[in-house]
Amino acid sequence: MTNKRKILVGRKLPDAIETKLSRDYLPLFNSDDHVFSPDELIAKSQGMDAILACHSEPLNAEVIALLPDTVRLIANFSVGVDHVDLNAAKARGIVVTNTPDVLSDATAEIAILCMLGAARRASEGERLVRSGHWNSWSPAFMVGTQITGKRIGIVGMGRVGQVLAQRASGFGMKIHYHNRRPLPSITGFNATFHPQLEEMLPLCDVLSLNCPATPETRGLLNRARIDLLPEGAIVVNTARGALVDDEALIAALKIGKVGAAGLDVFNDEPNLHPGYRELDNTFLLPHIGSATRETRDAMGYRALENIEAFFSGKEPVDRVA
Ligand code: DGY
Repeated sequence: MTNKRKILVGRKLPDAIETKLSRDYLPLFNSDDHVFSPDELIAKSQGMDAILACHSEPLNAEVIALLPDTVRLIANFSVGVDHVDLNAAKARGIVVTNTPDVLSDATAEIAILCMLGAARRASEGERLVRSGHWNSWSPAFMVGTQITGKRIGIVGMGRVGQVLAQRASGFGMKIHYHNRRPLPSITGFNATFHPQLEEMLPLCDVLSLNCPATPETRGLLNRARIDLLPEGAIVVNTARGALVDDEALIAALKIGKVGAAGLDVFNDEPNLHPGYRELDNTFLLPHIGSATRETRDAMGYRALENIEAFFSGKEPVDRVA
């Protein structure tokens, strides 16, 4: 008879993490790494003590209501927890944790990639070279926008936003930010705080979304706010697709009001709005902000620390509910 805890593991995790899970727990792995349907998630949770979940697991109120009583912890392998209904979890007495900090560098790198990819027409250029149709260099050929010295407006100055601000400072960018509160102290960059988003938008040559998706921030980048951006501004989203009104952004990209967009996240992933694919002025990535070997290992260890703390009766350091 073993007293090891049973853990349902939502997706394929790095080898080192699965090895540690197998040593210390009784994991039920998702061997072919498919996305669990709500019914499957509920069925596989029977008899489990915890779920090690990713943002692809639909832990909405309906699913949480049907989880067995044995499940006492949802330990997320993600910083974002918008896939979990936190109120429903609280109501069932299920503790929820996430993995902050460890993915800030990797995600800020992708924000820089999205900014440069959009500004310098990287998708168009790459497609052209691969197609074999590139036929000459010319001063008028594939001219984009320089970001050095431009103004970036960061919405959400959490951990990722701050690393992005440091990196953008390295390009000589002027940093503006909108956040619930001004940062108490800033190191490594100068930044101007804007309590009102509307007041910051006209100053954004680049607008980067770095806040979580919550009921308050859903659809934040809507038509009225896009209208406040300077003509030809660049929009970057590495946070969550739900922050953007897709129809409004696509319409603005079509007329050049938004000059280009670099997007790593989408509404209804992986079924993004087809309008984005049809445009040349979009640089699109498949939600890979945290996808480095270093970061994925670190996320796994952080999730394991939370699980270990919880089952040894301590408060998990990354408890969000
Ligand atoms: C996160 O950690 O929130 C990343 O977006 C992956 O889900």
